[in-house]
Amino acid sequence: MSGPAAWPPAPIRTERLVLRESEARDRAAFIDLFASPEVGTYIGGSRPRDELERTTPELPGRRPGFFVVELDGAMIGMITLDPRDGVAETELGYLFLPEAWGHGYAAEACAAALGWFAGAHPGKPVALCTQTANAPSMRLAEKLGFTEVERFEAYGAKQWLGVWPG
Ligand SMILES: CC(C)(COP(=O)(O)OP(=O)(O)OC[C@H]1O[C@@H](n2cnc3c(N)ncnc32)[C@H](O)[C@@H]1OP(=O)(O)O)[C@@H](O)C(=O)NCCC(=O)NCCS
Repeated sequence: MSGPAAWPPAPIRTERLVLRESEARDRAAFIDLFASPEVGTYIGGSRPRDELERTTPELPGRRPGFFVVELDGAMIGMITLDPRDGVAETELGYLFLPEAWGHGYAAEACAAALGWFAGAHPGKPVALCTQTANAPSMRLAEKLGFTEVERFEAYGAKQWLGVWPG
């Protein structure tokens, strides 16, 4: 993530969710996320659970731009705002546990993260890259107000690059 905003911000509360820095108690959910074949479908696959159990740090995800998304006290997903080159200096990423899909949680959390970013870095755009075959992610990008910059081929798949605000 670019710019001088202090990290971490105070936890961000939405109607149903909290966006916050990671805690040691999130570790099992991190492992579930990265071990899930469904989560990995359009992002290069999942990793073996035993490998994740060995290699996941005691406090995963502690870095600027990394939000854990919490529902009723438990982690259901993560949102990243990471540095990148090109159309914008910051890129949005999102991964949610499959049991949390289909409730609008990703949209609610990403909108809050983008709102926080816009306040912390006024006027700075955010990029988003997703496979075009990832229909839920394409729908989410549109709902959030990203607009298409280009489509291109990479990692053997068609990719969509968008920018926000559109
Ligand atoms: C991409 C991803 C976050 C999208 O999750 P999602 O739950 O479909 O996204 P949203 O939060 O926008 O929820 C939309 C769905 O919730 C439904 N919904 C239910 N209640 C809702 C509510 N109160 N408000 C809004 N939507 C609601 C919508 O109808 C929609 O369902 P549909 O897709 O069947 O039409 C999820 O598929 C994921 O984590 N995938 C794996 C990781 C990944 O590929 N990330 C992208 C990397 S670029």
